[in-house]
Amino acid sequence: MDLKDSQFDAKDIGLHDQGRLRIEWAERQMPVLRKIRNEFAEQKPLKDIRIAACLHVTTETANLAITLKAGGADVSLCASNPLSTQDDVAASLIKDFGIKTFAIKGEDNETYYRHINAVLDNGPVITMDDGADLVSTIHTKRTELLKDIRGGTEETTTGVIRLKSMAEKGVLKYPIIAVNDATTKHFFDNRYGTGQSTIDGILRATNILMAGSVFVVCGYGWCGRGVAMRARGMGANVIITEIDPLRALEAVMDGYRVMPLAEAAELGDVFVTVTGDIHIIDAEHFKRMKDGAIICNSGHFNVEINLEALEKMTKEKREIRSMVVEYCLENGLRIYVLGEGRLINLASAEGHPANVMDMSFANQALCSRHMVEKGKELASKVYGVPEEIDKRIAFTKLQCMGVKIDSLTDEQEKYLSSWEMGT
Ligand code: ADE
Repeated sequence: MDLKDSQFDAKDIGLHDQGRLRIEWAERQMPVLRKIRNEFAEQKPLKDIRIAACLHVTTETANLAITLKAGGADVSLCASNPLSTQDDVAASLIKDFGIKTFAIKGEDNETYYRHINAVLDNGPVITMDDGADLVSTIHTKRTELLKDIRGGTEETTTGVIRLKSMAEKGVLKYPIIAVNDATTKHFFDNRYGTGQSTIDGILRATNILMAGSVFVVCGYGWCGRGVAMRARGMGANVIITEIDPLRALEAVMDGYRVMPLAEAAELGDVFVTVTGDIHIIDAEHFKRMKDGAIICNSGHFNVEINLEALEKMTKEKREIRSMVVEYCLENGLRIYVLGEGRLINLASAEGHPANVMDMSFANQALCSRHMVEKGKELASKVYGVPEEIDKRIAFTKLQCMGVKIDSLTDEQEKYLSSWEMGT
């Protein structure tokens, strides 16, 4: 399955054997995607469809790419974050599966965008984004590609927000399905996936003891809920910061302390941002922190911690462990930043486990099929995932887990649809 030199860029193709084994390991925990792959292999619903994908290049994404290829698609793949690529996986996708892959862990900004452009050079019919970088590049610098594009999908909350803003301003030029909005995606991936893998990333980077630590979670969306829940499960004393009164109230009733970050800054041992917004942790907070505070981010972009402001307050810095940089401030205190403020679950761990990505990527696979079949009928808007896809994935996942559930009796069905019946 030899690709031409211009059809890939990876750190070391020699890593492919290890990558292939890890891809196989993930596949065992992705039964829903496996079923879809078998169906795709038979029906070829994506025959000759060029799919450009900008996703975290992990073992789970590899299984998605292989599934799309089984469906007949011509897939090209690049990373959606410079630090999230698993180099052995990229090597295996290229060498063992013939998938055009352009991704190197730690790539600089210029290489990151060169890889995005290399993927776009394949002339996509469908785009698949995690953070909307393909859509944004196409709409600003590669508008010549628009004429062939039928539609796209978006994986993450941050990307969906960007795309909805484009649609509202009337600048979005093709339809997008917001995979993130499927219940079988954000209820599970964002909560249990981000929850577990963020703690995993922090622990792999630092090896700190969670029990008894004061753990500040900035943002109580689905990801924040997951991180808080898992931190509490390991004995941390969790504080939530929020700007939304409903979410704050929910956090209070879930049993957490809720307070402004300026107050939490003085108490926290560990800080995690999961808000999707810029400069959540800023100079005023760094100034108040305890010596030894650990800061990291699990939101999509590396904007949540104001590292520029931190640099300005810093006398010296050094990498004290892999993925841990010690900032020694003018006031003598030390602050530790993990993974350069990039999403810590992918920078220092392996991202969400395969078992939960199974549902997220089943949504991606079925939505790309839906886009191929129905894209021409759709307007240039952001659409939710069709309910039948969401339901099918929930049903299949339960089936794969061997969990059976009840169904309504005729009498119960009738009762629910009859407004006349009362006491
Ligand atoms: N996003 C979060 N975790 C991921 C994973 N394991 N693979 C791809 N994208 C992810």
